[in-house]
Amino acid sequence: MKKLKDFAFIVVLNSVVLFGFHAQENPIDKKVQDLIAKMTLEEKVGQLFQVSGEEVTGPRGEKINITEYIKAGKVGSCLNIYGTKNVMRVQKAAIESSRLKIPLLFGLDVIHGYKTVFPAPIALASSWDPEIVRKAQKIAAKEMSSSGVMWTFTPMLDIARDPRWGRVVESFGEDPYLVSVMGRVSVEAFQGESFDKKDSVMATAKHYVGYGAVQAGREYYTVDISKRTLWEIYMPPFKAAVDTHVASVMPAFTTVNGVPMSANKELVNDVLREKWRFQGITVSDWNAIHELINHGVAENGADAAVQGINAGVDIDMVGGDYMNNLAALVKDNKVPVALVDKAVARILKKKFELGLFDNPYKYCDSEKEKEELLSSANREAAREIARESIVLLKNDNNILPLKMKDIKSVAVVGSLAESKRDIIGPWCGIGSEKDTISVLDAIKDVIPRGTVLNYQKGSEIEDNNESLVNAAVNAASKSDIIIAVLGESSEMSGEAASRSSIEIPEAQKTLLKWLSITGKPIVLVLMNGRPLDLSWEDKHIPAILETWFPGTEGGNAIADILFGKHNPSAKLPITFPKSLGQVPIAYNHLMCGRPATTETVTQKYVSKYLDIDNEPLYPFGYGLTYTAFSYSPIYLDKKEIKIGESLAASVVIKNTGKVDGKEVVQLYIRDMLASVARPIMDLKDFKKVSIKSGDSVKISFTITSDHLKFYNKDMEEIIEPGTFEVYIGTNSRDYQKESFKVVK
Ligand code: BGC
Repeated sequence: MKKLKDFAFIVVLNSVVLFGFHAQENPIDKKVQDLIAKMTLEEKVGQLFQVSGEEVTGPRGEKINITEYIKAGKVGSCLNIYGTKNVMRVQKAAIESSRLKIPLLFGLDVIHGYKTVFPAPIALASSWDPEIVRKAQKIAAKEMSSSGVMWTFTPMLDIARDPRWGRVVESFGEDPYLVSVMGRVSVEAFQGESFDKKDSVMATAKHYVGYGAVQAGREYYTVDISKRTLWEIYMPPFKAAVDTHVASVMPAFTTVNGVPMSANKELVNDVLREKWRFQGITVSDWNAIHELINHGVAENGADAAVQGINAGVDIDMVGGDYMNNLAALVKDNKVPVALVDKAVARILKKKFELGLFDNPYKYCDSEKEKEELLSSANREAAREIARESIVLLKNDNNILPLKMKDIKSVAVVGSLAESKRDIIGPWCGIGSEKDTISVLDAIKDVIPRGTVLNYQKGSEIEDNNESLVNAAVNAASKSDIIIAVLGESSEMSGEAASRSSIEIPEAQKTLLKWLSITGKPIVLVLMNGRPLDLSWEDKHIPAILETWFPGTEGGNAIADILFGKHNPSAKLPITFPKSLGQVPIAYNHLMCGRPATTETVTQKYVSKYLDIDNEPLYPFGYGLTYTAFSYSPIYLDKKEIKIGESLAASVVIKNTGKVDGKEVVQLYIRDMLASVARPIMDLKDFKKVSIKSGDSVKISFTITSDHLKFYNKDMEEIIEPGTFEVYIGTNSRDYQKESFKVVK
């Protein structure tokens, strides 16, 4: 058993050397130290305090005038203040009236677009196209950076495996590799090549770590993760973001091993900073330091402040415990001033790197703001990105795209069809429904002249009545086809939006059942922020399109797909279960002692349910297209490699359908025999390719040591010799298979 420790040692050594070199040579470090030398303790603490909007909650809950605080040098950064005019006004107070004229940072949750709203992150991940994600985040960076904001609290890198959890919508899904890839391109897109650029802004990897593991999907609830699961599943996206030099990291609200992340020295200081050499800022989640009291681990605000700063949390977002207590704690020798200085240094360094000391108004450019926000180019990109993010789940008899020459009348049903607010989803920057294209608008726009369009709401999101349903059924009965736009409102997912049911809300489901009784063909267009239980729909509805929350141009993108202007190619970044009873469910579960295979499933003592099979409704990586692809067997250039060597695995994919299309080719690997139980498969790589109708393309993957290593019993990363299976396919269920050996 050869360990990769030597290799790991060299990597760490290199980064220490590099780090040391930078620390000595970097002129910014000197400027930072010079400035710190001039600061009073109160001014230092001010840098660690972040305020929201223009009011601050004071020690006794009273509202404080933020401008006075800024003038006194008691604020280091703001969130939720945006727009050139507002930012300039607030920045002016720091620059013109504070003693040391230290510029403020302005941050905002730019989660899926600033003014032009892109599909929600779960939808962006569905594109399985890093360049599409990069494009969306780059435009978001351009828009926000012209509007005063230089710091986004995105990407959210939490692994999401429980559809009840509302924040699934903000995630890139269930798989550590896919989330890492999408996280990395997001960081690169926001931060650009260097912070010198006017449209480079700071990104935040959040919520470090394990937030997605809240039990029963209940927001802010208990987390209990084994060390192995933490390191194999939840940590990799954060490591990838740190390796991409993400500027900031936000610890989660939740606990790991009983320790709330805002007080988790082991994971924040020891792992993030010391082991991974993270150089940026850590910012607490909203009031999370103060909430250490509610967690029952801090006695009061002062105790919370001690624990937060000791853990390595630099900025106290809105809570005020640092602001109220840190200076006194330092004076009483309860917190070493060196700890405060280090946190201040990290914040000042970013302000220097962003160029704010040279030009505090660098990101305030009202001309550019006017040009950039919601420009026609940005809207066009939003439409393209939305089209790439919509997953075709079902398409019996190729009912889609709609064959309009045979269709004389269309019924559009569902209140989401006309909703301009829900379609842009939760946490949509400063996006507005006024600027949004609804599904109904878009269909009206493209439906051929002479075709009758019958629109009926049929139901509210969570409420209906007989007359609404009757009107919809009447409209449906006199139409050739029904487009039912159903699902969740935007408030039904996002933060503090867990659900105990993952079905389409009952009012709309009832409507759908009535519509199906008409016998007319139905195309179900879904909007939702989480995997839904679509078992009934899958059985009764011929075509299902998962659009998530597709954004400002969502209506047009949906119409492009319905009417065949665009061939869908997105795939699910998260498993859709058959029922909530299967949750938690993820494709890469461990091998177990009594698996239910085709041979054993009828036996009693195997891993299964009595009332449902184990298979999900739609597996991870699944999604249909208007064409079809065939896969050749896998060709391996070597059947045996030594530890440290690599091999190539390739397949030839043919577009056997009538239209050009794109395919997401997925590579999974399974370690057949190891010293600890390994997953039945793990996504290791993927490629999205365009293939013209009738054409074939050869796709090759290089399998390296990185793809074969795992944590052994001592949590050391190693590769063990033995047999590995390789799967290349169209999703985690349908693939070609080969195997190779690794020898010493
Ligand atoms: C959320 C964070 C967000 C912060 C600031 C919190 O409630 O958990 O994701 O960045 O608020 O808006």
